[in-house]
Amino acid sequence: MDHPHFFGFIPYPATPVSFVGDMITSAANTHAGSWLQSSGPSTIERSLISWLATVAGLPNTAGGLFLSGGSMANLTAIMLARDSKLGSTWQEKARGVAYVSDQTHSLVAKGLRILGFENIQIRKVKSDNHFRLDVDALEKEILSDRANGLRPFLIVASCGTTNTGSIDPLHALAKLARTQFPNLWLHVDGAYGASVALSKGYKHLVDGLGEADSISWDAHKWLFQTYGCGMVLVRDGNLLRQSFATEAEYVRDAVDSGQGDSPNYWNYGPELTRPARAMKLWLTLQVFGLDGFGAMIDHGFVLAETAETELKKLPDWTILSKANMAILNFRFEPKERSEEELDVMNMAISQQLILKNVAAILTTKLLGKVVLRICSISPSLSKEAMRHIIARLDTVAREREGAYL
Ligand SMILES: Cc1ncc(COP(=O)(O)O)c(C=O)c1O
Repeated sequence: MDHPHFFGFIPYPATPVSFVGDMITSAANTHAGSWLQSSGPSTIERSLISWLATVAGLPNTAGGLFLSGGSMANLTAIMLARDSKLGSTWQEKARGVAYVSDQTHSLVAKGLRILGFENIQIRKVKSDNHFRLDVDALEKEILSDRANGLRPFLIVASCGTTNTGSIDPLHALAKLARTQFPNLWLHVDGAYGASVALSKGYKHLVDGLGEADSISWDAHKWLFQTYGCGMVLVRDGNLLRQSFATEAEYVRDAVDSGQGDSPNYWNYGPELTRPARAMKLWLTLQVFGLDGFGAMIDHGFVLAETAETELKKLPDWTILSKANMAILNFRFEPKERSEEELDVMNMAISQQLILKNVAAILTTKLLGKVVLRICSISPSLSKEAMRHIIARLDTVAREREGAYL
């Protein structure tokens, strides 16, 4: 997954600097659960979280912590939403309803189930023609659930969906959650896309991120870190302690002030023993600087745009979702083929590309069709190399077409 020609899933283009940071952190083996055990790394974690929250547009009340990745960040945020917006009894929780889109990552529903919600409490709202959550459809669902005596409590928006990179209308959703239905929590799953807040040329795309009550953000995706390095950022940082703090006599010597200046991170999230995950990201930021990071992120956009430009020059290729947030979806569609034949042909093209060692361009499904998908966030792939890959892709596709005649 770290090969520059790997475009499946969300690739893993970790920088060697992160790898070195990870080695040092592992060797020091700091227990980053409490201030007593980890005042140095916890200071780095606290300042990175506070700075990244500002970059995302959150107010200075924000807090958060590092976690293993997007799954745990989403789970943590859902717990805060549940504790803030639903009552404390199970009867009240049983009436809670959460809203996701048909493009939301499946692990959000997993997180809801882990926290005790049933599938019937999760509404999968349709997305619009650009794969963004349809706000009108959402509003109708909320109104209908309220009329039926249910308790809508959570909207999960995406900032960079896994399929197409689409960004839900964050401002409109915030308005819905704050003004129209004031008891709704807006969580933004930015596991993939929140990193664009550090981009130089594309930052405007994630405008509205700071409207969220909570944000998931994976550094092991588009901030080039080794696994597992994710974060949850929370608009009102105090809520983390309210949901997660515990006390016990055997940790009585590791008290923190409770003011956030000397955090015991085991009171901010689900883990007690935890590695000092912030250190490698901090080291990488020191080495590359903000300009370096911004340029590395922007390069991903340029690669996907290059792939799109090249495909458009060739006959029989259809773009199903334009280059967006470094993700592009397309399909080989020679004439006079049935939909089923095209599905099989595109799957075969993907497999042939791997067998011939050209690239890993895997498939997904959009609008019921099998499509080829490129997620191009590797800083070490050149535009020229991307052009060459598209040319090879076209050759492989025409060979497959020949095989079907
Ligand atoms: C949009 C989105 N959210 C969440 C996740 C899950 O994150 P993790 O694998 O770090 O748990 C992914 C993973 O690809 C993702 O793309």
